Amino acid sequence: MNSKRVEVELGARSYPIFISEDFQLENFEQTIGQRRFYVITDSHVAPLYGDQLSVLPNRLGQSIVPAGESSKSLQQAEIIYGDLIRAKADRKTVIVALGGGVVGDLAGFIASTYMRGVPFVQMPTSLLAMVDSSVGGKVAVNHPLGKNMIGHFYQPESVLMATSVLKTLPQRELQAGMAEVIKYGIIMDAEFFAWLEQNVEKLLALDPQAIASTLEKSVCCKAQVVGEDEKEGGVRATLNLGHTFGHAEEVLAGYGRVLHGEAVAAGMVAAMATSVALGQASEDDLRRCRALILKFKLPITLTQSHRQTEFWTAMEGDKKSLSGVVNFVLSRGIGGCDLPKAIQRTFIENVLTSLR
Ligand SMILES: NC(=O)c1ccc[n+]([C@@H]2O[C@H](COP(=O)([O-])OP(=O)(O)OC[C@H]3O[C@@H](n4cnc5c(N)ncnc54)[C@H](O)[C@@H]3O)[C@@H](O)[C@H]2O)c1
Ligand SMILES: [Zn+2]
Repeated sequence: MNSKRVEVELGARSYPIFISEDFQLENFEQTIGQRRFYVITDSHVAPLYGDQLSVLPNRLGQSIVPAGESSKSLQQAEIIYGDLIRAKADRKTVIVALGGGVVGDLAGFIASTYMRGVPFVQMPTSLLAMVDSSVGGKVAVNHPLGKNMIGHFYQPESVLMATSVLKTLPQRELQAGMAEVIKYGIIMDAEFFAWLEQNVEKLLALDPQAIASTLEKSVCCKAQVVGEDEKEGGVRATLNLGHTFGHAEEVLAGYGRVLHGEAVAAGMVAAMATSVALGQASEDDLRRCRALILKFKLPITLTQSHRQTEFWTAMEGDKKSLSGVVNFVLSRGIGGCDLPKAIQRTFIENVLTSLR
């Protein structure tokens, strides 16, 4: 498989994304040059892929955090600042995030703050991290009172991804990552959506070509949106399709019970049904959306939406909503969408009732 390269165009902060079957260390070494690098990874990924980087001469050290969302914390960041200081990491040391979105967000946060900011490279290993979190520069840790509450926009120098690492990713995580892939089709690319409909089996079987095409298309979509609106003043918010519903589902089901992508999948069905109710999408669009999500073995119903008051309150708590009004990203058929807009509670509740 030939490797692919996609550019994120952000002026002086532009960077390449490399997609290949295995990590191409020549691309890595080209990015790093003569500088030293320090790897941040997690307890699942380190034994699987940590060795690939440990053979390189410029590696200063490695910190391994426990796998899971709880590592995205200020406490964990503080431990790693200590590791970096003891290893004598300086302002030129490149922080390398090797792992899923948790490692990427944490390592990016650390890179953005250690010595007022050091260079940063992403090597995402989960599908979600490849198609979403490693591109675009949102880095954060969680606060006990809210997810991603403490963070920055801090772009990496480059992103290196290898399709072969998905072989070890748990199937459920792979499926959950597909929700964000489907999202790109719905909000901005009808042709990609139709291609996904034709390629589900290949993708679930991790056919390298099909996966590489999916990664390329997804990161192109994300790069385009981020290139237009780096700090989410406008169009970047459309990447939240299904997320207002999805966050409420995650909060009420209890974090960890439902994966982010699973909640977003059901949330995208709710968003599409709302678009249908408003006359800006057809019943057939909704049917195709449901069918594709189901083929990837993802949920199409919000299990918590019968708890109407709590569900609405949880949606109000979503950080995208301002002053008690809940804003939703809605599609225009398949392949287009609107900026977030306020929709009345009764209207949404009727849609949610119709979906139960
Ligand atoms: N920065 C952004 O723009 C952005 C966007 C979306 C999500 N996120 C964040 O991303 C996080 C979720 O990311 P995630 O779904 O990757 O979760 P994760 O990092 O917890 O990875 C999921 C699980 O898969 C394991 N894993 C990762 N790659 C593997 C591989 N190749 N083989 C075997 N196991 C592997 C991990 O150890 C973990 O147990 C959340 O914290 C979310 O807030 C950030
Ligand atoms: Zn998401």
